[in-house]
Amino acid sequence: MTLLSLSHVTKIYRQGGMLGRRLITAVNDVSFELGDEPEILSIVGESGSGKSTVAAMILGQTEPSEGALQFAGKTVAIHSRAERTAFMKEVQPVLQNPFEAFNPLKRVDRYLFETARNFSAGKRPDRQQAEKMADAALHHVGLTLEEVKGRFPHELSGGQLQRVAIARALIPQPRLLVADEPVSMVDASLRMAIVNLFGRLKSELGLSIIYITHDLATAYYVSDNIIIMRKGEIVERGRARTVLDDPQHEYSRALKDAVLAADFSGVG
Ligand SMILES: Nc1ncnc2c1ncn2[C@@H]1O[C@H](COP(=O)(O)OP(=O)(O)O)[C@@H](O)[C@H]1O
Ligand SMILES: [Mg+2]
Repeated sequence: MTLLSLSHVTKIYRQGGMLGRRLITAVNDVSFELGDEPEILSIVGESGSGKSTVAAMILGQTEPSEGALQFAGKTVAIHSRAERTAFMKEVQPVLQNPFEAFNPLKRVDRYLFETARNFSAGKRPDRQQAEKMADAALHHVGLTLEEVKGRFPHELSGGQLQRVAIARALIPQPRLLVADEPVSMVDASLRMAIVNLFGRLKSELGLSIIYITHDLATAYYVSDNIIIMRKGEIVERGRARTVLDDPQHEYSRALKDAVLAADFSGVG
């Protein structure tokens, strides 16, 4: 069985609205699969290479112009609220900026309780059960309910808030997380901790994770497989270590050289 498959997926945007004339091929003939075994797949590429568009299609937020996406053997197609809820039980997003994911006027624990109520199978959990579910999810990201209870988003650091966002994504017990640049807004010193967390979630919860980043270094450490995208196309793919130890494509080599140069100048 395959968990996720993209088969010759192309996405063309019309820029300038419905009547705009300029067509942009954001994603061009992209195919890849995630198997049933938990896996971390990194999608790496510079800005504008089509990574977020791939994420949006996997999340059912936008439809491909051509090609097909399947999740657990079914075409990803979301036309109603009920379909969206059902799909989001299995596939959860983690966004780039946790401060945008949370309303600044709402206490963060509310989000966890609401998710627990909205997504639990069977009977709606009561307050106590919702708290228990929230606490369990927070434990998986190295936090406790005690630590975040009653807090507003700005009372937490970017790293903590991103952990809360990941905890929330875990509550529906999804099979796949799609994390689009999840650490780019997080302090450099805390990035590795969050990325390592993905490795733990994979082994402890059997989650598969699509980790989208322009940061080759974190991708190298955490991912099983890697896809390198450029201008909407996959230019290289394979086991992460193999690809990054010895990139074949000129562009992958340039990406790697840029990372090494940044490291040596003390920026990276
Ligand atoms: N909603 C949209 N409408 C029009 N063009 C878009 C839209 N979203 C993305 N694009 C264009 O598609 C290309 C790929 O963008 P994106 O998927 O966001 O890349 P990445 O996440 O790798 O930076 C870019 O040229 C971008 O301007
Ligand atoms: Mg993007």
